[in-house]
Amino acid sequence: MPTILITGGAGFIGANFVRYTAENRPEYTIRVLDALTYAGDRSNLTGVPGRVDLVHGDICDADLVNALVAESDTIVHFAAESHVDNSLDDPEPFLRTNVTGTFRLLEAVRRHDRRLHHISTDEVFGDLPLDSDARFTEQTRYDPSSPYSATKAASDLLVRAWVRSYGVRATLSNCANNYGPYQHVEKFIPRQVTNLLTGERPKLYGEGINVREWTHVDDHNAAVHLILDGGRIGETYLIGSGDERSNRQVLDLVLTLMDRPAGEYDHVGDRPGHDLRYANDSTKLRTELGWRPRYADLADGLAPTIDWYRTNGWWWTGPKEAAEARYRRQLAGR
Ligand code: NAD
Ligand code: DAU
Repeated sequence: MPTILITGGAGFIGANFVRYTAENRPEYTIRVLDALTYAGDRSNLTGVPGRVDLVHGDICDADLVNALVAESDTIVHFAAESHVDNSLDDPEPFLRTNVTGTFRLLEAVRRHDRRLHHISTDEVFGDLPLDSDARFTEQTRYDPSSPYSATKAASDLLVRAWVRSYGVRATLSNCANNYGPYQHVEKFIPRQVTNLLTGERPKLYGEGINVREWTHVDDHNAAVHLILDGGRIGETYLIGSGDERSNRQVLDLVLTLMDRPAGEYDHVGDRPGHDLRYANDSTKLRTELGWRPRYADLADGLAPTIDWYRTNGWWWTGPKEAAEARYRRQLAGR
C-alpha cells in the first residue's frame, strides 16, 4: 500500500484531507507530520476511519523530515503558519515554517525522489480591483501583500526552482478562501459564527467591502487528489468555486442562516494592507482534470458548517478565548 505523508494534517484543511483520503482512497497508508501548534489538534483526527499514524514533530527538523520522507511514496504539504493577522503581528514563525520548513521538505524529497504536492494560496498574487471581472490565472505575476503571503510566495518559488534545477517531481495548487468544519476560530467565518453563539457581536473589518472567493474544504481536497492522480509535474493549478462575495454579504448570509437580524455586527479597525479582492480562474483544473465544486454556492456549504460549530462547542471554546485574547493584544499593539 502506498504511504502518503500529510504535513500539517492536524490543522483545518490537512485534517479534512486526512478524513477525505481515509474515506475515499483506502489504498493509502496515512501518516501525518504536525507540530501541533495553536492551530493543530490531535482531536481533529478523532473518528477518522482506519489507522492514522500521527508524528508530533516540526517540518524544520531536517533529520525527522528526511526519515519520514524516505518511508513515504507521496507527500502533501499543508503545514504552514496560515493567518494573515498573526503574520502582521509577528512574521518570524511564518518565515521559519513556511520558508525554511518547505526548504527542508524539498531537500528530503530531492534526496529520495518522492512525489510532492505543495499546497498554496491565491494570496501570492496580491489582490484584484473591486470593480472588475479580472481573475488570477496560473500566469499571474506574484505580488504578495502581507508577511504571510510573502512567505507562501517564497515557498512556491522554492518548489518551482527545485522542479527546474533538480527535477523534483512536484505539483502546486493555489486555492481561494476555504471554509468548513474544524476551521480555527481566528478565521472570518468561524469567528463570526462563534461570536453569535456566545452572545458577542460579529466583527467586520472596515466597511466589509473586501471580496473573497469561498471554496468548501472538501472541494479543495478533491482537487488535490485529482492533481495527485493526473496533474502534470511542475505545473500549478488554481482552485476556486467561483462564488465571490464581499465580507458584508457573507456576514449577512451567516445572520440569515442563524435567524438573526440583519446588520447585527460591529465595524472594527481595518486590517493593515487589507487585500481588496481575490478570485481564481480555475479553468485549467476543470478542463484538464475534470474538477467541479460540489458546493458551487456558499449557502449550501455554510449551513452544515454553522451546524457543525453549533454542535461542537467543546472543540472551539478554549481556542476561542485564546484567539480573542490575541485579537485584543494585536489591536492594542497597532
Ligand atoms: P491551519 O493553520 O489550520 O493548520 C496548519 C497546520 O500546520 C497545523 O496543524 C499546525 O500545527 C501545523 N504546523 C504549523 N507549523 C508547523 C511546523 N513547523 N511543522 C509541522 N507542522 C506545523 O492552516 P490551514 O488553513 O489548514 O491551511 C493549510 C494550508 O493551506 C496552508 O499551507 C495554507 O497556506 C493553505 N491554504 C489555506 C487556505 C485557507 O483558506 N485556510 C486557502 C488556500 C491555501
Ligand atoms: O485566500 C486564501 C487565504 O484565505 C489563505 O491563504 C489563508 O490561509 C486564509 O486565512 C484566508 O486568508 P484571509 O485573510 O482572506 O482570511 P480571513 O478568514 O482572515 O479573513 C477573510 C476576510 O474577512 C478578510 O477580508 C478579512 C475579513 N475579516 C476577518 C476577520 C478575522 C473580518 O472582516 N473580520 C474578522 O474578524
